[in-house]
Amino acid sequence: MLQDTFLTPAQIVAELDKYIVGQHEAKRHVAIALRNRWRRLHAPADMQAEIVPNNILMIGATGVGKTEIARRLAHLADAPFVKVEASKFTEVGYVGRDVESMVRDLAEQSVNRVRQRRQEAVRLQAAEAVEELILDALIPPVKQPAGKKSKAKPLGFGPDDSADDDTAAEEMPAADHELNERTRARFREKIRNGELEDRRIEINVAQPGPSVGIMGAPPGMDEAALSGLQDMLGSMVPKRSRKRKVTIAEARKLLLDDEAAKLIDMDEVKDEAIRQAENAGIIFIDEIDKVASSGGKSGGGGPDVSRQGVQRDLLPIVEGSAVNTKYGIVNTDHILFIAAGAFHVSKPSDLIPELQGRFPIRVELQPLTQADFVRILRHPKNALTKQYEALLLAEDVTLTFADEALDRLAAIAAEVNATVENIGARRLHTVMSRLLNEILFDVPDKIAAHAQVHITPELVDERLADMVKNRDLSQYIL
Ligand SMILES: Nc1ncnc2c1ncn2[C@@H]1O[C@H](COP(=O)(O)OP(=O)(O)OP(=O)(O)O)[C@@H](O)[C@H]1O
Ligand SMILES: [Mg+2]
Repeated sequence: MLQDTFLTPAQIVAELDKYIVGQHEAKRHVAIALRNRWRRLHAPADMQAEIVPNNILMIGATGVGKTEIARRLAHLADAPFVKVEASKFTEVGYVGRDVESMVRDLAEQSVNRVRQRRQEAVRLQAAEAVEELILDALIPPVKQPAGKKSKAKPLGFGPDDSADDDTAAEEMPAADHELNERTRARFREKIRNGELEDRRIEINVAQPGPSVGIMGAPPGMDEAALSGLQDMLGSMVPKRSRKRKVTIAEARKLLLDDEAAKLIDMDEVKDEAIRQAENAGIIFIDEIDKVASSGGKSGGGGPDVSRQGVQRDLLPIVEGSAVNTKYGIVNTDHILFIAAGAFHVSKPSDLIPELQGRFPIRVELQPLTQADFVRILRHPKNALTKQYEALLLAEDVTLTFADEALDRLAAIAAEVNATVENIGARRLHTVMSRLLNEILFDVPDKIAAHAQVHITPELVDERLADMVKNRDLSQYIL
C-alpha cells in the first residue's frame, strides 16, 4: 500500500497545485500529514503504536477550495479515503446515519481497493482461465482414455513396455483425444489472434444473488449488524448462474471478473483491508461547522441539542475506539481525520471543547483575490476556460479567451462577490455561464463547425457590465 515511491510533501503540494490556486498553508499541512502516515509505518513497531495522527481543522469562507482540496487529496492519498458531511449525521438513537457509519464506509472502501488490486494482480491468470472456458464452449474437450493419463515416461530406465499395454479397443478414443487436442490448439491460436471475436458462444454467467431487503432496523440492532445480516441472508440464497449466448469478445469481459474473483482469497483481502484502513485511512469530515451550535447558550431543546449529540458521538471515533464493521473490527486510533468548515455563523470555539482538542492543527484558508480568480480561470487542469473549450471543440468550434477578457471576468466576479454575497470561486461559474450562454446556444445552428470564437474584453463588458451595475439584476442572475 504505502510503497517506497510514496509522494514527498513537496510532491504532494505540487500535485495539489495543479488543481488548486493558492492556499499554500493548507496544502503544506495536508502534505505533511499525508507523508507522516508513511513515516509512521517505517518507524520501529513500539513507536508506531505511540505516534498519533495530528488531525487537521481547515477553516475558510465558502468557495475557497476546502472541498476541492479533499477531493484532490483522495486521488493522491493512495490510501483508503472517505469524505463525509457532518451535517448528514444524527445523534445515536435518532433516525438517520450514526457517525460510526463513516468508519464502516472507510472499511468498505478499503476492501474494494484491496480486492481490486488483488484482482489486477491475478488478471493474467484469470485471462488464461477465461480462454479455457471460451475454448470449452467452442470445442468441448473429450475425456482422455484411461491408461494414457501420463505421457511422461521414465527415461532410460527399464524396458519401455507401456505402449504394448494399449489394446486395440483403446486406440480409437486415444486418437479422438489427440484430434480434439489438436483442434483445440488450432482454435486457441485463432482466439489469441482475435479471429473469432464475433463468433457467438454459450456461456454460464453468474447472476448476482437477489438482494435481501430488510425494511428499517429492528429495535436494538445497529446499522453494522443490519448490513451484516443482509449479507448473510444474501449468501444463503444459492448463487444462480444463467446461460447466455454472447460473442467471444463479450464473453471475455463477462467472465474475467468472475474468474479473477475466484483466484483471490477474500479472508486475506478483508484482513489486509482492515489493516490499511486502520493505519493509512483518512476520513475527511466536511461541513463540520454545521454541527457547531452557534451562539451556544440557547438553552434546552431545538437542533442545538442534537448537534452537540453528534459532536459527542464524534469524540470517541476521533480519539480512537473500536468500531464494528461487517469486515471486522476497525480500530480508529491511527486514522487521520481532516475536518473542514466555513464557520460563517458559528466559530471553531463553538465546537465542544473536547472535540476542538482533537483537531490540534488549525489552518485558515485565505479569501481569494481578483488575481487568484484570473489564475483559477486559466491554469488548473480543470479550469473553467479549459472545460468550455473542450465542450465547444466537440462541435469543432475553437474557443479562445483574450487575457484581458479573463482580467475583466475576474474583476466582475470580485465585484459581485463584494457587493452581493461572497461565494468565492463559485462566482466564476455563474459569471462564465452568463457570458457564454448565447454562444453555447448558437452552436452549431448559427455558429457552425470550424468557426473560431474569440472572447474579447469588449464582449465581456457587453454581456455582463450592465448586470453588475444593476444590483437587483446581479443578485438574481449572477
Ligand atoms: N483555490 C482554488 N483554486 C481553484 N479552484 C477553486 C479554488 N477554490 C475554489 N475553487 C473552485 O470553486 C468551487 C468551489 O470550491 P470548494 O467546493 O472547494 O469550496 P469550499 O471551500 O468547500 O466551500 P464551502 O464552505 O461552501 O463548502 C470548486 O468548483 C473549485 O473548482
Ligand atoms: Mg465544501
